[in-house]
Amino acid sequence: MEKSSIWKEVSNQANKYSGGMRVDLYKKYGRYYDLIYSSFNTEENAKYVENAAKKFLGKFETILDVGCGTGDLLIYFSKKGYEVWGIDKSEVMVELAREKAKNVGVNVNILLADASSFKSPKPFDVVTCLFGTLGYLHKDGEVESFFRNTFNNLRDGGLFIFDFPSFEFFKKHGVKPSVLEGEKDGLKSIRVSLPKFNPETRFLTLPFKCIIYRGRELIDLFEETHKLRTFEISEIRSLLKRCSFSLVEFLQSRQAGRYATIVARKPIN
Ligand SMILES: C[S@@+](CC[C@H](N)C(=O)[O-])C[C@H]1O[C@@H](n2cnc3c(N)ncnc32)[C@H](O)[C@@H]1O
Repeated sequence: MEKSSIWKEVSNQANKYSGGMRVDLYKKYGRYYDLIYSSFNTEENAKYVENAAKKFLGKFETILDVGCGTGDLLIYFSKKGYEVWGIDKSEVMVELAREKAKNVGVNVNILLADASSFKSPKPFDVVTCLFGTLGYLHKDGEVESFFRNTFNNLRDGGLFIFDFPSFEFFKKHGVKPSVLEGEKDGLKSIRVSLPKFNPETRFLTLPFKCIIYRGRELIDLFEETHKLRTFEISEIRSLLKRCSFSLVEFLQSRQAGRYATIVARKPIN
């Protein structure tokens, strides 16, 4: 299929989706996302993906990042000459990612779309979904539908690289209050969180209180609560099996153990 007609088809799909858009959880948080996480090394995920893809695939050219956020992974790979596509269900994140890519002069295709319903008109070598994004898919049906669509969005032999909030980790270690400070472009942020983990429901509740300031001037003050589903590795293993993926690599503890990471492969027919 021609690149321009692929783009048209995907845009139609994305427009249909945005018509029924639910509340944008990242409306406020998203606007300050890069500031809040400025102390995080976002290249860590991209480098992990690059190494895993080289190790298990050899040559690869195309990547789809699901829940791409403000687009750091897309920009990293685009700068290296890969064809990159990203989807996110937050309008704010999609706008920020497009703006950031434009500012650094790279070509990325970023669409407003939901992970659980996105059907790509072209197959990718690698599909990624990182930094806890899977935890935002709360219902069994949404997760399964995401895995099934991802299977179809990959070429034969392609890799699905994702992480997820680990039930085992939170059950063992519980959660602790945290303070995260950020600094970027003259702005500073403080995010205070008193998380809760319920081992019965297996949900992690993250109530964030955020203060954004410049010098002694208060720029913004807001609260929002993110709810993340945690997954047991056995759950993920059987989901992968049901969706015909084969497991290539499992890391119980990346990113300080919070997120377990999987590399799965769509078998070659
Ligand atoms: C924790 S952020 C991670 C962003 C990015 N992957 C990163 O590494 O910085 C989670 C992202 O997933 C997006 N998201 C949540 N649920 C989604 C869904 N059902 N479909 C697509 N994106 C989703 C959010 O809008 C947000 O941008």
